[in-house]
Amino acid sequence: MSFPSPIKIAPSILSADFADFGREIQAIEAQGADWVHVDVMDGHFVPNLTFGPPAVAAFRKHVKTVMDVHLMIAPVDPYIDAFAEAGADIITAHVEAGPHIHRTLQAIRATGKKAGVALNPGTPAEAVAHVLDLTDLICVMTVNPGFGGQKFIDMTAKIRALRAMIGDRPIHIEIDGGVTPETAPKVVAAGADVLVAGSAVFKGGSVDNPAPYGANMRAIRDAAERASGARMA
Ligand code: DX5
Ligand code: ZN
Repeated sequence: MSFPSPIKIAPSILSADFADFGREIQAIEAQGADWVHVDVMDGHFVPNLTFGPPAVAAFRKHVKTVMDVHLMIAPVDPYIDAFAEAGADIITAHVEAGPHIHRTLQAIRATGKKAGVALNPGTPAEAVAHVLDLTDLICVMTVNPGFGGQKFIDMTAKIRALRAMIGDRPIHIEIDGGVTPETAPKVVAAGADVLVAGSAVFKGGSVDNPAPYGANMRAIRDAAERASGARMA
């Protein structure tokens, strides 16, 4: 299989110190993060509120890797240009956020950014079957979105179905919610290659003591790579 690419770890700054995002982003990148995952919530599509485009633009100044922006907002289309201008590299919209995911993905691609589509746990793989050629990343939620630190919901069958559906297309499968060294091998064995993790990365560390961030990411990556090796063999 020419794809998936090597495992990528994308810490969610939802678990960072909200008074110190710049240094938190620098710390996770210095400790080995591949991407920086930014959770945008609107208090409507999900029962929590986080950041708008000006905050995301401020994060951008510190991100040297890839800024992966997960929009948990409805409607989404009116805000795509603002998040593109804020410096997102990947913009992910939920298939459940409106009736026109095809149009939404076209609009994201039109900004020149990578287009992602996210699936809530209750949404079947088939929901993205007709938009694969507009998609660079499928985000499989393994919690109901809205909060960090929730318990992992097993979506292994959905991940396998998506990987089969994707075939040779260069589409990442990203897992978001409850990723730990214990759950990562399962999702990677099923076909995932990008692992978002909030609480499991930030636990035990701080900007003044960032080594635990590195150790936490290594633990997830090592467990995931063992499963990835087994899958490729
Ligand atoms: C949930 C967010 C996640 C969240 C993951 O709605 O999309 O990115 O931060 O947090 P953990 O890894 O703690 O489950
Ligand atoms: Zn997320």
